[in-house]
Parts: sequence; structure tokens; C-alpha cells
Amino acid sequence: MRKEQTFRWDRLNLGTCYYPEHWDRSLWQDDLDRMLSAGIQTIRIAEFAWSKVEPREGEFTYGFFDDFLDLAARAGMKVIFGTPSATPPAWLTEKYPEVLNARMDGVLYRHGMRRHYNYNSPKYQELVARIVDKIGARYGGHPAVIGWQIDNEINCETDEFYSESDTLAFRRFLQDKYKTLDALNQAWGAVFWNQTYTEWEEIHVPRPTVSNSTNPHECLDYIRFVSDSANRWCRMQSDILRKYLKPGDFITTNGMFASLDNHRMQDESLDVYTYDSYPNFAYCLDADPRGTTGLNDREWSARLTEVRSVCEHFGIMEQQSGANGWNTRMEAPAPKPGQIMLWTMQSIAHGADYVSYFRWRTASKGTEIYWHGILDYDNRDNRKLAEIRDISRRITAIAGIAGASYQAKVGMLRDYDNIWDARVDSWHGRLANPSEYEIFHACQISHTPLDYVTITESTESADLAKYDVLFYPHALILTQKTADLLKAYAEQGGTLIIGARTGMKDLTGQCVMMPMPGLLMPLTGTDVAEFTLIGPADEPQTMDWNGKVLPTGVFSDILHVSGESTKVLAMYGTDFYKGRPALVENPCGKGRVLHFGGTFTRENVTAFLEYTGTISPCREIIDLPECCELAVRIKDGTTYCFVLNYAAQEAAVGLKHPMADMDTGRTVSGVIRLSPYETKVYKLV
Ligand code: GAL
Repeated sequence: MRKEQTFRWDRLNLGTCYYPEHWDRSLWQDDLDRMLSAGIQTIRIAEFAWSKVEPREGEFTYGFFDDFLDLAARAGMKVIFGTPSATPPAWLTEKYPEVLNARMDGVLYRHGMRRHYNYNSPKYQELVARIVDKIGARYGGHPAVIGWQIDNEINCETDEFYSESDTLAFRRFLQDKYKTLDALNQAWGAVFWNQTYTEWEEIHVPRPTVSNSTNPHECLDYIRFVSDSANRWCRMQSDILRKYLKPGDFITTNGMFASLDNHRMQDESLDVYTYDSYPNFAYCLDADPRGTTGLNDREWSARLTEVRSVCEHFGIMEQQSGANGWNTRMEAPAPKPGQIMLWTMQSIAHGADYVSYFRWRTASKGTEIYWHGILDYDNRDNRKLAEIRDISRRITAIAGIAGASYQAKVGMLRDYDNIWDARVDSWHGRLANPSEYEIFHACQISHTPLDYVTITESTESADLAKYDVLFYPHALILTQKTADLLKAYAEQGGTLIIGARTGMKDLTGQCVMMPMPGLLMPLTGTDVAEFTLIGPADEPQTMDWNGKVLPTGVFSDILHVSGESTKVLAMYGTDFYKGRPALVENPCGKGRVLHFGGTFTRENVTAFLEYTGTISPCREIIDLPECCELAVRIKDGTTYCFVLNYAAQEAAVGLKHPMADMDTGRTVSGVIRLSPYETKVYKLV
């Protein structure tokens, strides 16, 4: 079982990100008053303002934030204070260039942007520890302060670190892990291409190699090392802040980025997790083409699902409130009327109890002049502020939903070893990335609420038991502990669905010399006779299941049945393995395991959901068009249904059961027409 989160908001509430250092002091009072009158009760400040506290090395000045915080306290504004480690000042990087991060070829990232530091420089650790201690001591007891944000978006901008300090720390990390060079050479398969190490000093963080194809087992350990470094970084700051935390205040960090075990960070260092949600990325001028044909802004629900797996009752530290764009990239149109409301409700539907808009007023200087906030440069009231006022009125009406739990009976298992291996191993990535997206997509479109369930050290079968069905799409890396967990889940009555390549690797990323699905063979009653990628010249592969011809994706494991009670559910439909098993079911205690040889597509996932009877669990009470998302949160026996229309068109929703519209308080049923981007919250009566 994971550690319980140690902070929760007791009411839904709104905030914004404010940069007092960007504006003339004469604006502060008016800004706070306008925020409060719009229903914004909390602000996050100071995360990039190191020089306001330490303008020169060792010289600490508190006047600026003393004044601002006193004003905030008088105004009745609550403050989340950020630690400034994402932007070291010029005096620091100039005097101590060893704090800088480097590119893979060793060239240092210089002053002028942000996040140009490395986590492992002892000098930077010392200077950051000192300033965090100073601000913690000074402001931890301040009545306006209610919480702390560590750094800003850990691993954002880059999740690769190649400084000299990183190489030294990487060696220590490996020494701790492997103890001897022999063990390391074994784990990295160093005998291949004569990579054997004879001294620890021969080991470096990955450096440029021919075809950029560094040893994969080393790369996997390197990602683990980056995650470990980032986690220690956060822990160092959190330990300092805890000394000064008032009872009831919290420590968080914001965003969710790659090469980072966020579950460990939450459990070790944070009281609550906050995410930065920018669904308008889907409409960027240079967006991934899938964004324009697929789920667009609705895809952010996948990220919110991931955040919920880290921390069930989370917050949004930065919620989109304007068009995106730096002066260098990421240009996007302004949110349409109703979209700020839609994205706010999307966050709340998935479990956010605090939503804070980025940012109060658009920066009038610097790289982010086009990353628009609520107000524009001219500082006048505008349509966006009016929308925030409407949101705040709605939030007040439904504030008690805070703490309600998102309901899902279908889960997708994930684990960091496989997530990271899929980045290192392109065969793995080609399977895992589309399968995860397609599972999410099929669940969205069929209104089947989905959880991501991350297997960590502390996961027990009781954590899995609440799901009727668990997809574990492509667990190439499989440990005995995980295999035992899955067995216990199925034996207790669950349905486990696994896909191609399961069980082919161990924790080092090396291939095990047993048939796939390796350690799961006793559960599936199958083994993989042979396998192939589907190439561009191949006919798309299919399987015939219950009279439907379904795609089997981009890879085929051709199954062989060995178990006594195994049942072949579907055969491949084409190519040299036509007629051989593609999908096999095996009973396991009170449950069952489905071994699928392919990768997941929205069509075959829909068929899995139908077969297991888990599709559209609310179909008896509500009829929804595809363009609407459904989310259900329950608290104290009361069920709240969120219906979100992502379309620019009207959508007709059929309520088959009377429900209380939380905005009007009226009980309604029958066909309801939602305007473009409109959202509804219904209470089941
Ligand atoms: C976030 C970041 C903010 C701001 C925003 C817009 O990633 O935390 O500081 O940069 O994006 O670019």
C-alpha cells in the first residue's frame, strides 16, 4: 500500500500565478483586489525570484517579499511560495560554472534561459540549501503562506544531464547499485562490443557515440539515475522546508515530466502533487498531426489520469487561461469562449480540488510574452476574466465535491522500468506508445472511465482488486514480484489482459532465455512460438473474434497453447501465420488471463471491453455522444457525473435517470442539449 497523501483541500477552490517582481508595486493592491473579487483566493509566487532575496552572494534582503506578503495577508490572499532553484542568478553561474548543466557533447548551457543547472553539483546543492533555509525560516510562519512549491517543473526543458558533477554522481549511483565492476559489466552486457570496464573512472554519463546508439542497459540505468538525482533534489529542499512548515501547510511541486519517478517524489517529499495543464498545446500551429484528427485537448485527460495515479486528490498549479507561445516557439490560438471553463472542469472531473490559472497577467517582457494569462498587457477586464468569474461561481456551488474519488473499474498497469525501457528500446517504444494511447482513446470514446495503475515497490494485490479488468499492454520487463502480484490479482477474480512481447526482459533490460511471456507462462497457459513486426509492405494483420475482424496492431506474437484449460479466442487472419492463435484465455483461480499476441488499437480494445462486460458502465443512466467525456466522482455515497463537451458543436445528452443539475439545483431528465464546450455536473438522485 502506498503512503496516504498528507494534504487535501477541503473545498474546490481557485488560484492564479502571480509575479510581483514583474510589476510596479503600485499595481499589487489593485491586482489582489481584482483577483479576490473574481473568486481567486490563492496565488503562487516567487519561484523564479532568487535575486529578490539574494541579489549578491551571501547578501540576503527580505524587504521585497516582506512587503508583498504583508499586503497579501491584509488583503486576505493566501500564498504558495516557490523555491527559486530553477533560475540561478547570473552572479552564481558566472562564479561557479560547475553548477551548469551540459549538452551531451560537454558544452555548458549558459545563463539566459532557465533550468540551466544540474542536480548533482555540490556547490549548487549548498547554495540552494542555503536560500531555501533562509526563505523557509523567514516565511514559513507568515500568516499569508499556506504552502510551498519546490523548484519549478522538475525535469522540464530537459531531462538529460551531462555535467562533470553528473558523471561523478552517476559513478556513485552505480557503485551503490552494483558494488563491483564485475556485477556492472554483467548487468550492462559489457562483453558485447568489448565494452568491459576495468576502472570506475572509465564510466561516464552517456557521451556522443556513433549513431547515438550507446549501450541500452547503460542508458536504462542512466534514466534511473536522472530520476534518482531529481528525487534527491526535491527531497533535499523538502527536508529543509519541513523544519519551518506551519501545521496544515503543504509542500508540493508542479508539472509532470519524463525520466522521473513521480510516485517516489510524492511519497518521499510532497504532501500533495500539483500538475500544470495546458490542453491548448493540442492546437499549436506546429502540433503533432494526431492532435488535429484525434482527441485534441481531450488528450490531456490521459495526463490527468496519470497525475491521479501519483496523487488521488491533486491540484493544478498552472491551468491554461490564454493563448500559448514563447517568442521562439509553441504558437497557438486563443482559447475559444467556454474553453477555459471546459479545461477547468476537465481537471476537476479527474480529481483536481485546486485549480490555479497561469498567469494573472501576461508577461510584458521576456521569452513568454505570448504565453497569455487571464489579463492581457493592457490590464483591462476582458472575456477571459469574465469566464473565470463564471467558473468561480460554479466552483462555489460544487465546492463540496473536493475529496470525491474518481470511479473506474478498468485500469491500465504501468511501471517505470518499462516506461523507461520503451524510451531506450525502439522496438519497445513502437509497441508501448500507440497501445497506451489507443487504450485511453477507446475508453474515452466508449465512456469507460479508466485509471492508470502504477506498479511500485509498495503495490499489493489489494490495490489491484478494485479493478474488474487490468490491461498490462507490453510489460517487456517482468520481475517475479510483479508476476506474483498479477497472479494474486487474477486468482482473486480479476481479468488480466497482456499484449505482445510480455516477459522478454529482466530488470537490466537484457532478454531472458525462456519463452515469452516468461514468468507469466504458468498464468497464460501459452508460449510465443514466433513473432514479427508488421512492416510497411505487410498487409495489416487482423484476428477474427466473435464474428468481427479486428486489427491486431503493429506486432504479432504467434501463440502456442500449452495449458489444459486454455481456450483460443481468436486466430490471425493473414500472412504466413494465418489461422494460428492470436488471443488465448486461461482461467486462473476466480479470474482469468487473456494473452493477446498483438498491440492494442481502439477497435480491439473496444472488443476487449465488450467481451469483459466493462464497456460504458453508466449506459443505463446516461446516453452520450462520442464528443463528450464522462467522469464520475463519488463522495459520502453521493455520485457526481461530469459531462464535458469538447466539440465546437452542440451535443445531445440523454439522461435516462433523474439527476440534479448542480448549477441550477433542478432535477432534470430526458434529452439535454449542451452548447459548444459546455460542461455539466449532475448529482445522481
Ligand atoms: C510552464 C512553466 C511556467 C511557464 C509556462 C508557460 O511550463 O511552469 O513557468 O513557463 O509553462 O511557458
